[in-house]
Amino acid sequence: MITQQTIQQILSRIDIIDVVGSFVKLKKRGTNYLGLCPFHNEKTPSFTVSPNKEIYKCFGCGKSGNTISFLMEHEKYSYVEALKWLANRYNVEVEETEVSAEVRAQQQLADSLYILNGFAQKYFSTVLFESTEGQDIGLSYLKERGFNEEIIRKFQIGYCKEERNAFVTVALNNQFNKDYLVKSGLAALRNEELVDNYRGRIIFPVHNTTGKVIGFGARIIKKNDRAPKYINTPENEIYVKSKILYGMYFARQVIDKYNECLLVEGYTDVVSLHQAGIENVVASGGTSLTTDQLRLVKKYTNNLTIVYDGDKAGVKAALRGLDMALEEGLNVKLVLIPDNEDPDSYVNKVGAQAFRDFVAENKKDFIIFQLEVAMQDAGNDSQKKAAVVNQIAETISKVNKAEDFTRQQDYIRQSAQLLKIEEEGLNALVNKFIREKVTKLENKMAAAEPGPPEIPPYEESHPVDTDEGFQLLLKDELQERAVVRSLIEFGLKPWDDHKKVAEHIFEELVDDDLFDNQQLLEVIKTYKLWYDAGLEPTAKNFFYHEDQQMSAIVVSLLEFGYEVSEKWKQKFRLPVPGRDDTYREEVISTLGYLKLRKIKRLIEQNQKDLGLPHSIEDQMVLLQTHQALKQMEKDLLKDLGTVIVR
Ligand code: CTP
Ligand code: MN
Repeated sequence: MITQQTIQQILSRIDIIDVVGSFVKLKKRGTNYLGLCPFHNEKTPSFTVSPNKEIYKCFGCGKSGNTISFLMEHEKYSYVEALKWLANRYNVEVEETEVSAEVRAQQQLADSLYILNGFAQKYFSTVLFESTEGQDIGLSYLKERGFNEEIIRKFQIGYCKEERNAFVTVALNNQFNKDYLVKSGLAALRNEELVDNYRGRIIFPVHNTTGKVIGFGARIIKKNDRAPKYINTPENEIYVKSKILYGMYFARQVIDKYNECLLVEGYTDVVSLHQAGIENVVASGGTSLTTDQLRLVKKYTNNLTIVYDGDKAGVKAALRGLDMALEEGLNVKLVLIPDNEDPDSYVNKVGAQAFRDFVAENKKDFIIFQLEVAMQDAGNDSQKKAAVVNQIAETISKVNKAEDFTRQQDYIRQSAQLLKIEEEGLNALVNKFIREKVTKLENKMAAAEPGPPEIPPYEESHPVDTDEGFQLLLKDELQERAVVRSLIEFGLKPWDDHKKVAEHIFEELVDDDLFDNQQLLEVIKTYKLWYDAGLEPTAKNFFYHEDQQMSAIVVSLLEFGYEVSEKWKQKFRLPVPGRDDTYREEVISTLGYLKLRKIKRLIEQNQKDLGLPHSIEDQMVLLQTHQALKQMEKDLLKDLGTVIVR
């Protein structure tokens, strides 16, 4: 945990122009700065940074935020990582609470390994380009394979001499520690003697997403059946294979921009494709993907396209465990390269454009691909066929509906067609799997804790045009949505000494006709059902709800930002509470606005009535009603004001 004092110091030194300017070329325009938006493709700049307000906003794609959210968005840092980046830039010493001696020792070890790897990378590059052996053996091999010097330098590729201990000697002369040399995998102990581990090999440095070298892949050059083709860094404090995708440092921004990540098997595939100008590529090293790797991809895009050789066991390995990708909400496509080629040799053979075209035209959805393979395997065996149906239903049930709920329906339709079975039947089967999952989830929920609150983006307040305040209240469902959102977000927090927020909201909402949107009302009723049954409902329960509409509406609720409050604030000239520590105020105000809307409606109705011909007595009653309603409205607004101001 970074201490509050450190955060304070960092925040006081932030210079948004400096930070954003180190990623985006900015030009001064009046009091603001202008540049090409890094979040979408554009030719004329519409990305504006305001040093006074300390915010940025793109008028093309609408992205906006503050310095920290910029780093989180652009560099995909977590909040803490962004703070550390800033601390480093502004020379703020980061004070962390609760760092044990053990943790500190670990951090020091990691730092030492980074430094050693950086040193080794420079050494191997120098050997490749400047030594005779490097040029004659390493560089000539790389050139023969078609790699140009620019790409070799970009990926910091190097060469390790055939000598027993050329690197070890240099490293020891530079005071590097023996234990670290072994831990890093750069050296190995043979008969108590330290020797180079990557002798006579091409060195591919592996970078983490901030560009530090965390390990190496070392490819043999000379044919040798006894030695492995690649030697990779052993697992250590900074090289954790299950979390690494080779090339991510060079690919991440392009992946973000094109909203697609190509996944290949090997080092050479990545480098060749980059050289051909196809830069949204990373490699897994030929093993099946881990959840951590999938999450890494998901930081940048939801679209993963696996590009593998056609006839390899590698394809099966890659497909294994890809159900996880569905649960993570990724769209997985598969392209198989024909004719015993791999992406590296294929792009060299056909060129960049033909490669791109091939991928675009041959992308096959992973679920459908899997189904086709399974159907071929099953042949005419009816028992095997039944197993395939079950399997595909289970796979489809894992499609993360929270991300995209029409996709599941598409899969059901397509698969039913391929299998030549009734769509309804498959649908029912999929629902069965979902129900089983929900039940499991519900059982788990009691133990689950809600995550830390998100930091809301610092929205630039946009003046709302002049339509009447109550039109806003009448027209849409914003108040209803706000109440439901408060329930989901704060329902389990204490309201007072006796009850929780959820119970308070239920008490206030006895009146069903406060709600127009029946689906929203359903969410509340479902929440109540779960709550009364002793569960502790969170957003996740709704995301995985069998009812797709319910799931979708809750997703949309949580996406719905602060705009509403902003609008209310401006309409009614009221301050709006922050969210976290003032959740009670938020609940009071959302409920208040919902009631206010009802009163406004009654007033409108009453006024319409007043416009019709009436007896004097009736007229009087209507006028009194009008006054009473107006008074209620005034009281409510006053309450809302004091609640919020307090
Ligand atoms: N690999 C490995 N160890 C091996 C063989 C392969 O770690 N002994 C990993 C490497 O990450 C390699 C990837 O699997 O890049 C794919 O293997 P392969 O297709 O055999 O290698 P390429 O990268 O295509 O190398 P080249 O084109 O030079 O044959
Ligand atoms: Mn290859």
